[in-house]
Amino acid sequence: MARILFTSGPTRQYLDPVRYLTNASSGRMGLALVEAALAAGHEAVVVSGPVEITYPTAARVIPVLTTDEMLAAARDEFPHCDGLIGVAAPCDYKPTKVEDHKIAKTGEPLTLQLIETPDIVATLGNERLQQGSPQWVVGFALETDDRHFRAVTKLQKKSCDLIVLNGPEAMNSLTNDVEILDRTGAVVAKFQGSKGDVAQGIFGEIQARLIRTR
Ligand code: C5P
Repeated sequence: MARILFTSGPTRQYLDPVRYLTNASSGRMGLALVEAALAAGHEAVVVSGPVEITYPTAARVIPVLTTDEMLAAARDEFPHCDGLIGVAAPCDYKPTKVEDHKIAKTGEPLTLQLIETPDIVATLGNERLQQGSPQWVVGFALETDDRHFRAVTKLQKKSCDLIVLNGPEAMNSLTNDVEILDRTGAVVAKFQGSKGDVAQGIFGEIQARLIRTR
C-alpha cells in the first residue's frame, strides 16, 4: 500500500478582497484519481484549491487558496508520501501587489503587474531528485499545439516519471481523452471516456510502472 499525495483543483490569486485570478478547473479529474487510488487500497492526501466537488471521506483533504499555500502544504506532506500526482491547475501568475480595499473603478484602464507563482510539481520533482529519494512524481499537461513535444519538455523540466497529456476539452468536462508519456517521450498508454474510467486507466499505469516496482 502506498500513501499518495494529490494536488487538485484550481488556486486563486487575489487582486483585492473580492477579485481574483484563477484557472478553469473543477477538480473532477483529481477526485476521480483519488477514488481510483482509494479503491486500489492506497492512502490519499489531497491538497486542494477551492472546488465544488466533494472528496471521499477516506481521503485526508487539506484545503488551500493560493499557489504558494498549495506549495507549502504539499511540501509539508510530501516527505511522508511515496509519490505525487499533480493534477491541480494552479494559477501561474499573481499580482505584485494585493490591495487591502476593493479597487474602485475610475473609468481609466487598470494596469496589473503579474509575476509567476512557483511550480509545485517542478519544485517537488526536482527536490526529490536532488535528495536521491525513491519517490515518484506524475504530472499533467494540457496542450493544444505540438502536444507531444511540449508534454515531454514539461516532464523533463518538472522531473516527472510520467506525464498525462490532455487537451483543452478536458476542462470542466465529465469526459477526457488522454495519452501517458514516459521519460523517453514514448506514448505508453491512451485512455478515453468518463473521467472515472480514464482515472482508472491512468491509475493502473501508475500502479504498474511506479508503485508495484518499489
Ligand atoms: O506548466 P503547466 O501548468 O501546463 O503544467 C502542468 C502540470 O504542472 C500539472 O501537473 C500541474 O499540476 C503542475 N503545475 C504545478 N504548479 C504550477 C503550475 C503547474 O504544480 N504553478
